Amino acid sequence: ITCADHVSPESVKGNTAVVVDTLRATSVIITAISHGAKSVVPMTSVEEALETKKKLENVVLGGERKARLIDGFDLSNSPKEYTASAVAEKNVVLTTTNGTKAIARSSSAARIFIGALRNARAVAEAAVAEERDAVIVNAGTGGEFSMDDFITAGAIIAHMLELKPAELTDVAKTALIIYETHRDLRSYIQEAHHYGVLEELGLSEDLDFCLQESVEDIVPEYKNGIIKQHF
Ligand code: MLT
Repeated sequence: ITCADHVSPESVKGNTAVVVDTLRATSVIITAISHGAKSVVPMTSVEEALETKKKLENVVLGGERKARLIDGFDLSNSPKEYTASAVAEKNVVLTTTNGTKAIARSSSAARIFIGALRNARAVAEAAVAEERDAVIVNAGTGGEFSMDDFITAGAIIAHMLELKPAELTDVAKTALIIYETHRDLRSYIQEAHHYGVLEELGLSEDLDFCLQESVEDIVPEYKNGIIKQHF
């Protein structure tokens, strides 16, 4: 496990990266792909996202700054807005504060999967099938580890170990222990800084949605600048 701001090209090169931003960017990406989006195109800045909209067809612009809708964008970073009627057959150009940046920073990995609690089991299966070392990239908040991403990493590791024994780093073991000792995920995640931010904004429904574990079989994969379902 590593934190997005500590990812160097060398630390992920040749490995399978699983990028996690449970609250909420990777939960949004999984939902968009699950509801039939043709692709999700992650962008690190609002300007880039607006430029990309001009170049692509059938674009829906989504994302957040300070967890709120960006001026001129179609959707915020609330997974419940990514319905089939909003995103099916569309290219979702997405920019978020930490999540899309974490994806960009992982781009030298051999494979890059998008993980969250919602697809923890499925993404674990995909990572194990790759038969390489796996690095879970905790998108975090402002360069720091976030509790929600840390326990999600623990869930993914637990599901990976169900399939195949593995050698774990100390930080990976710690995430696993935290997951195994907090099966009531909310009792732990509600202590996370960003949980409080989203709750204050009245986004409890998003929290309920993002905290559901292993309810999706979708494994989005980032390749050549775009995210699609991995087969
Ligand atoms: C991010 O990428 O920083 C988050 O997804 C923020 C959010 O919850 O909207």
